[in-house]
Amino acid sequence: MAQNDIRKLTLSPQEMRSLGYQVVDILVGHLTELPGKPVTAPLQETGLAQICATPLPEKGTPLQDVLTELTEKYLSRIMHVNHPRFFGFIPSPANYVSALADFLTSGYNVFAGMWIEALGPAEIEVMTLEWVRQLLGMPARAGGLFVSGGSMANLTGLAVARHHCLGNDTTNAVIYFSDQTHSSLGKALTLLGFKAEQSRCLASDAQYRLVMSDLEKAVAEDAKQGKRPFCVIANCGTTNTGAVDPLAEIAAFCHEHSLWFHVDAAYGGAAALTPLRDTLLVGLEKADSLAFDPHKWLFQPYEIGCVMVQDENYLLDTFRVLPEYLVDTQKGAEIVNFADRGIQLTRSFRALKLWMSLKTFGLEAFREAVSWGLSMAEYATELLETSPHFKVIAPATLGIVCFQYCPPTASALSQDDLNELNQALVDAAMADGYLTVTSTILKGQRVIRLCPINPRLSRADLEISIERLRVLGEELLLEFV
Ligand SMILES: Cc1ncc(COP(=O)(O)O)c(C=O)c1O
Repeated sequence: MAQNDIRKLTLSPQEMRSLGYQVVDILVGHLTELPGKPVTAPLQETGLAQICATPLPEKGTPLQDVLTELTEKYLSRIMHVNHPRFFGFIPSPANYVSALADFLTSGYNVFAGMWIEALGPAEIEVMTLEWVRQLLGMPARAGGLFVSGGSMANLTGLAVARHHCLGNDTTNAVIYFSDQTHSSLGKALTLLGFKAEQSRCLASDAQYRLVMSDLEKAVAEDAKQGKRPFCVIANCGTTNTGAVDPLAEIAAFCHEHSLWFHVDAAYGGAAALTPLRDTLLVGLEKADSLAFDPHKWLFQPYEIGCVMVQDENYLLDTFRVLPEYLVDTQKGAEIVNFADRGIQLTRSFRALKLWMSLKTFGLEAFREAVSWGLSMAEYATELLETSPHFKVIAPATLGIVCFQYCPPTASALSQDDLNELNQALVDAAMADGYLTVTSTILKGQRVIRLCPINPRLSRADLEISIERLRVLGEELLLEFV
């Protein structure tokens, strides 16, 4: 590498090509071999202290060496959330076209905050948001923004709600949601200045949904006490069980009582690609604000979330500011400055990966991929229900099944021991590495959560995984009985 090239932080075209091809080779090799690899490396001493002790490199190292260090030492120690047998948390079975889009985005280093710096990308983002609007069935005046993920989408939506309904004065305002609501919403409410006592966390029903009569009672009670009921947060696909709150009923209730209707569809929104949009998801389209994450179930690599609002002007009213150094951006009536719609000024061109992958594969492929995940969760429910070793606690809803390992030989175990056994089974599966599941607590019971939404998962893979859990469970049981 020539000395002046180093000073300019550049490489020759030849070097760029050759190193770029090496990265592609590494990635393609990794993705091709992934299904045959363990889902997760054994959890072991991380060596973080040693890493922190590595000196800041004054002199450069050849990229080949850096890549070797990276892949062998660090990337070998991740949980592969895009592995077909990664069933934990919310998997992210991303696609390669979107990874290429991220490379292009970084290579061009698109500034997607102001149209003047990225007119073409702004057009793509407008178009992609329009596609999302159509998918969700929201009205033509609705609009949105791509953000880093569900947490930011929920924060942005609730910031709009606070501005629009309360003029940013949170005094006495009350927000309602079920006990299955994602923690990012509580975080958002705190950041927006709401105190804990301004939230009504209502117990969910046997299907883990918000109970309408409890909501009505809580709102009436608060109104009677001179409080200001202002917002209901509904779930479209809870993290625990995939539950969908009664969206249409909540929408009607909010309309009747002039309450803001926010929907967290970060996970479940993708089901709007399937016929479920016209059954289970009806009411979603009425959300005043909505969070939806393409990096969960629309097969995109991190980070891409989306916030949509019923009227895109709500975003501008909440976030638009015009300091003197940005006056140059205000040229033309049709400009779309995405920085005016949200928190970030400098923002990357997240829309590209969704746009490029939708154009490449077509919506039909995405619809089939989402439907496959739905059917795999139903198949998992069937396998678990017909096995004497497992008990389904929450059957397949939007691609999630929750169950317990409780074979006949464990019938004498107390509830506490059963909880412990199931936690131990999740840990054992993680240590084993063949598959990954995670745990959660449902109505006091420790359960195993399985989210089989990877379109590369086969029925045989799922069958073997459940059998593997049974075998691991049997070994563990010896320690409990
Ligand atoms: C239902 C739901 N809402 C919100 C979030 C937060 O999204 P993110 O992790 O992208 O910030 C999650 C994350 O898993 C989720 O499952």
